[in-house]
Amino acid sequence: METLRLLPKSIKIEPNPFGISHQRNQIFLKFVAFLLLIGLAYRLIIADSNVSPVPDVRTSPESLPADPSDLTAVTQAPVSVDSPVNITTIASQNVSTKCDIFIGNWVPDPSGPVYTNVSCRHIQDHQNCLKNGRPDANYLLWRWQPRDCDLPRFNPEKFLDKMRNKWLAFIGDSISRNHVQSLICILSQVEEVEEIYHDKEYRSKIWRFLSHNFTLSVIWSPFLVKAETFENMNGVSFSDIQLHLDKLDHDWTDQYINFDYVIISGGKWFLKTSIFHENNTVTGCHYCQGKNNLTELGYLYSYRKALQLVLNFVAEPKHKAQVLFRTTTPDHFENGEWNSGGFCNRTMPFKESEGEMKNVDVSMRDIELEEFHKTAQEGSNSNIGLLDTTSMSLLRPDGHPGPYRYPNPFDGVKNKELNQIQNDCLHWCLPGPIDSWNDLMVELMLNREMYR
Ligand SMILES: *[C@@H]1O[C@H](CO)[C@@H](O)[C@H](O)[C@H]1NC(C)=O
Ligand SMILES: *[C@@H]1O[C@H](CO)[C@@H](O)[C@H](O)[C@H]1NC(C)=O
Ligand SMILES: *[C@@H]1O[C@H](CO)[C@@H](O)[C@H](O)[C@H]1NC(C)=O
Ligand SMILES: *[C@@H]1O[C@H](CO)[C@@H](O)[C@H](O)[C@H]1NC(C)=O
Ligand SMILES: *[C@@H]1O[C@H](CO)[C@@H](O)[C@H](O)[C@H]1NC(C)=O
Ligand SMILES: *[C@@H]1O[C@H](CO)[C@@H](O)[C@H](O)[C@H]1NC(C)=O
Ligand SMILES: *[C@@H]1O[C@H](CO)[C@@H](O)[C@H](O)[C@H]1NC(C)=O
Repeated sequence: METLRLLPKSIKIEPNPFGISHQRNQIFLKFVAFLLLIGLAYRLIIADSNVSPVPDVRTSPESLPADPSDLTAVTQAPVSVDSPVNITTIASQNVSTKCDIFIGNWVPDPSGPVYTNVSCRHIQDHQNCLKNGRPDANYLLWRWQPRDCDLPRFNPEKFLDKMRNKWLAFIGDSISRNHVQSLICILSQVEEVEEIYHDKEYRSKIWRFLSHNFTLSVIWSPFLVKAETFENMNGVSFSDIQLHLDKLDHDWTDQYINFDYVIISGGKWFLKTSIFHENNTVTGCHYCQGKNNLTELGYLYSYRKALQLVLNFVAEPKHKAQVLFRTTTPDHFENGEWNSGGFCNRTMPFKESEGEMKNVDVSMRDIELEEFHKTAQEGSNSNIGLLDTTSMSLLRPDGHPGPYRYPNPFDGVKNKELNQIQNDCLHWCLPGPIDSWNDLMVELMLNREMYR
């Protein structure tokens, strides 16, 4: 936890008072809306519609991966240098008559989020940017607008009605937890939820919306496959992760039969140093650093193997759950990585053409799309859909806690210590851009046939 410790309190740095900055932002916002309108007019009149759905991929300097779990100090593997990968595969599906809700732009939404740090009590402290004193509020005033259709705003009453007697489970890492908390905050504005289970570490939980008999789970399974991790209380690893690439994690498969809907995702934990096991033998590793004479197979190998196993499992005809497979979430560390002074202090979204996906995210998403399409094509099982939030999330460098992972991070920090403040540019503020994932998720869950 060394890197995360709050710095000694001595000088107080004045944060912007929330109210004043908010007012200024409103004026600024009007200006932005004006610019966007001009941009839209330009698009409609001049630009042709044949724009690449995904921002250009440029080579960025290789660096340490974003911390997967909770920005804890763990041995991290530098990522091998891959050439930028073609991510145009997104267009390979038959979308002629359907709207691709994953392509679009963020547009100003003065109405703001449906909940706040006060009206929702389920926000984890590390993502509670309002409570932690983040001074700007512009990041709260945007809505995702797909290019070719309007996305109805998620209606919590209607959703809860549709979910009567149903069970929805989120399976994955801390980003899945981030996502489920966003969903709970939105729903709890209509009906307060009751927590009925949590594990020892509060990483897996079950909630129930009593009057709808709707059950919601989050299951901690960052690798989705069987994994032995060795971390102390502070999340510092003291031995390499043992990954079983041919065995799924029982923590979720044992409960799977209960679920009606599942949101499942892999992610950045695969970037950690890990030893691969298959068929009861060690087959290689990722970031082995010459240890044990093992073959360096890399995280792309383990990620693909794990996803194959997961997707084949959920696609089995005997499995009834409707599944959405969520793609990787991009981080926005700039001028460094999570452990080397990287930060994310932007206060505006990128436009569709801006934003540069890091090689790690490009290659992970490529594998996700390839394996998803393989499974979706092979089986006649149409139970699996894609929740491809990567591109829309890439456009929101302004949506992360940054230093506001902790309360008032600049209180008593000397100038020369500023660059030692730990930033979180991976998880999302609540409320924040991740709320929009739910608009897409709910539409796909309830009206899948209308969308890609
Ligand atoms: C990506 O795919 C497109 C269309 O298939 C192709 O024209 C382009 O050259 C590819 N780019 C790279 C970097 O492979
Ligand atoms: C797309 O689907 C339509 C209707 O199902 C079909 O007629 C058409 O051939 C498909 N196009 C491609 C490129 O698969
Ligand atoms: C909510 O956030 C505001 C700042 O936006 C802060 O003043 C207030 O104390 C917070 N309340 C809670 C309960 O977190
Ligand atoms: C509540 O929902 C579960 C399924 O999630 C179902 O098994 C149970 O019978 C329901 N209870 C009532 C009282 O309808
Ligand atoms: C696992 O190992 C056994 C014994 O070496 C072999 O017969 C089998 O084909 C292997 N299975 C796979 C999937 O590699
Ligand atoms: C590692 O492998 C090389 C080549 O296979 C071999 O020469 C060397 O003795 C091995 N080292 C260890 C420590 O096993
Ligand atoms: C972000 O931080 C950098 C370095 O401290 C600074 O140069 C830049 O102006 C900041 N940007 C914003 C929007 O605050």
